[in-house]
Amino acid sequence: MTQAFERVPSSWHEQIINLLAERVVIVDENGIILYINEGYCEFIGTTIEEAIGRPVQDVIENSRMHIVAKTGEKELASTQKINGSEMIANRFPILENGKTVGAVGNVMFRNPEEWRMYKTKIQNLVEELNYYQAKAQRDLQSKYGFEDLIGSSPVFLAAKTLAKRVSGGDSSVLLIGESGTGKELFAHAIHRNSPRASAPFVAINCSSIPEHLLESELFGYEDGAFTGAKKGGKKGQFELASGGTLFLDEIGDMPLSMQSKLLRVLQEKEVVRVGGHKSVAVDVRIIAATHRNLEKMVEKGEFRQDLYYRLNVIKIDIPPLRSRKEDIPAVAKRLLKKLEARFYRNGLELSSEVTERLMQHSWPGNIRELENVLERSINVLDGQTVRLTHLPLYLRDLDPKDRQQSEAAINSNDYSTYRAATEPVIVKPLKDTVAQAEKQAIQHALLVANGNKQEAAKLLEIGKTSLYDKCKIYEIK
Ligand SMILES: Nc1ncnc2c1ncn2[C@@H]1O[C@H](COP(=O)(O)OP(=O)(O)O)[C@@H](O)[C@H]1O
Ligand SMILES: [Mg+2]
Repeated sequence: MTQAFERVPSSWHEQIINLLAERVVIVDENGIILYINEGYCEFIGTTIEEAIGRPVQDVIENSRMHIVAKTGEKELASTQKINGSEMIANRFPILENGKTVGAVGNVMFRNPEEWRMYKTKIQNLVEELNYYQAKAQRDLQSKYGFEDLIGSSPVFLAAKTLAKRVSGGDSSVLLIGESGTGKELFAHAIHRNSPRASAPFVAINCSSIPEHLLESELFGYEDGAFTGAKKGGKKGQFELASGGTLFLDEIGDMPLSMQSKLLRVLQEKEVVRVGGHKSVAVDVRIIAATHRNLEKMVEKGEFRQDLYYRLNVIKIDIPPLRSRKEDIPAVAKRLLKKLEARFYRNGLELSSEVTERLMQHSWPGNIRELENVLERSINVLDGQTVRLTHLPLYLRDLDPKDRQQSEAAINSNDYSTYRAATEPVIVKPLKDTVAQAEKQAIQHALLVANGNKQEAAKLLEIGKTSLYDKCKIYEIK
């Protein structure tokens, strides 16, 4: 005993231990229990007499005390399941002359109150973590098949037929189409209809991952590759997709430096993790998608031509919704079914005026915009039928009768009918009117993009920073 402790009466020792930690166990080098306190015994439903002298692993569920007493390596804040709950335990080796002679362990909360607090806080986190882990696993499967791709217009059927025909092969597929046309759905369906269907489908969005993380996301990293790197390294998406399909969404947004690295992997069919040396063979089928004009980007030197050729083995053009208006009723119906399940409703339908109106709109945000519009209408719906009044203002204002009238009025310089046909017109300074139009355009784009600013900026064809600035100016959330 060191001098410092010598003056503490030995009759105090046990009390001190029990005050410092509610549940304590001490084992010898063979893991035999030398001491266990009342609190611990109560907690695991045994008595001191019964526990002392027995191997710790027979007394305490999932104990690792006997291991720590052997290895001499402490374990801090490790989770241990006792009585069906996750506990947090600390385990320390006890040293004598540098040799491990036993171990002391404690469970890190001291009374029922702390336990309840822990249970509500930590337990929720553990559950959440488990949920996300399970979800991440599920996310590696394709979620849609060709039966989910609604539409029978000739332009759409042509795209669908081509996609079906090429799904059996291994060639790279390039999906081209505006935002919200269903590129991701096509990628899922191609995978599901392929011999790779039982292997993972891994999707990565090249525009939403910060440039400095993209490489390690795609190729993984080795232990200690950079500060903050996870111990043991991490698999990249290429490795995760092994045997399956890798969907590179928004490939047009991949920085040039990464394009070269991606090209190398596609040529060599092997990846080297960041900070690593050995290469791992990968067998993945690539499906890439973009709403950008890659050929133009190649011309301007923004996209590597050689990579473009690699990806563009099979090109599928997915038509915008406005060029297949006859599909709108069927697509809307399917979306309504999908939303019904989400909102716990059923028997919802569209009034014929609404269907007609939906067919008149030009849908710059395509099916995603249509889905948002329907979701919004269900939110304000009282009965079963979606009527014009349930549509967002920008669709209601589209009334062609109004527009014809007001256009006619403008042409004939008859401002009295023009006013009657539209909202009252108040002449304001031009810059206010322009600002108001700009604000409306941004709000509309955000609605179409489901609140996603990046997506909205793309639709407006302005930079993301510029959009953020404008949102601030116009106080858009
Ligand atoms: N042909 C279709 N039939 C029904 N729903 C579709 C169809 N295409 C796309 N969708 C739906 O529209 C939304 C946008 O599709 P998505 O594949 O994410 O578009 P993109 O990747 O082209 O932006 C998704 O909710 C999807 O389920
Ligand atoms: Mg997409």
